[in-house]
Amino acid sequence: MTATRPAPCSPGRPAGRTVRLPRHRLRRLRRTPALRNLVRETRLHPQMLVAPVFVRPGRGLREDIASLPGVQRVSPDEAVRDAERYAALGLGGVILFGLPEAKDDEGSGAWIDEGIVQQALRELRRADLPLVLIADTCLCEYTSHGHCGPLAEGQVDNDRALAALARTAAAQAQAGADIVAPSAMMDGQVAAIRQALDETGNGATAVMAYAAKAASAFYGPFREAADSAPSVGDRRAYQLDPANRHEALREMALDVEEGADILLVKPALPQLDLVAEARSRWDLPVAAYQVSGEYAMLAAAAERGWLDGPRATLETLTGIVRAGAGIVITYAAADVARWLRDPRAI
Ligand code: PBG
Repeated sequence: MTATRPAPCSPGRPAGRTVRLPRHRLRRLRRTPALRNLVRETRLHPQMLVAPVFVRPGRGLREDIASLPGVQRVSPDEAVRDAERYAALGLGGVILFGLPEAKDDEGSGAWIDEGIVQQALRELRRADLPLVLIADTCLCEYTSHGHCGPLAEGQVDNDRALAALARTAAAQAQAGADIVAPSAMMDGQVAAIRQALDETGNGATAVMAYAAKAASAFYGPFREAADSAPSVGDRRAYQLDPANRHEALREMALDVEEGADILLVKPALPQLDLVAEARSRWDLPVAAYQVSGEYAMLAAAAERGWLDGPRATLETLTGIVRAGAGIVITYAAADVARWLRDPRAI
């Protein structure tokens, strides 16, 4: 009888006849590492991870980023070195962000042929690595005012931004991007980009829509890395209010309708409910972006010895995947691939 069999943790007689002993003992499958490995429901794999790469002009250049320890701004040739390492670690891909030579009001550095991301894409394409090349499609890194499109009376002009984003996406595709990832949160951007890709003979290039992108405090370190903080105002007139779940779902539904191939939720940890919703409502691949501030929090706490960095990082990523993401963009991608390869090292 199960009632008289000793529990795994209490050899001998159970204490007192009046205690009702559990009939279901979930601890049975947690007893040894081998059992836990066997019944684990969520597994991280390097192929589902995408590493962000910040490219800047020059040759042989690497620059640390204070608020993103372990992440650097690199010249296109060094981006290729990094990508070779990522490919050797088995990562799924890289997503490129650019620091242009010069900025202007329209953000023309985003779409010119010699734009920094286009240069890096061409070099990466030439290296022919088994990595998916993703280009972030936005203008904030290229505009002198730091907003995600041209301004008209202090507001971003949505429809002029569409034309600029469409041109940028076509240039990125032409330079070798497998996927373009519009992140400007302009209405109609996925449709405009899809049309431009198709009209320029880039029908094979996929669109990963930053569908639910909140106006988040967690982008702070990125804006330092990409030198893209808005010089006036903030992005709340185009990025989502983090309080709004239904509005986020409308954004996702529209992006699906406009032709998105992949839906991205960002930031990841504060929006796990949206990751789960995206996974259950649509049959597109779902991606989540563990953004710069999420990474910086973990890195800072680990540096002080307040958290076990690798374990805490793996736990957050596992949570993001458990919620429904099949693709995760994270600054920890290369570290995670190393930890997964040799779990005893952590
Ligand atoms: C471009 C863009 C941003 C991020 C990704 N694409 C910055 C922003 O919207 O301010 C943030 C990524 C991160 O914080 O890691 N618009």
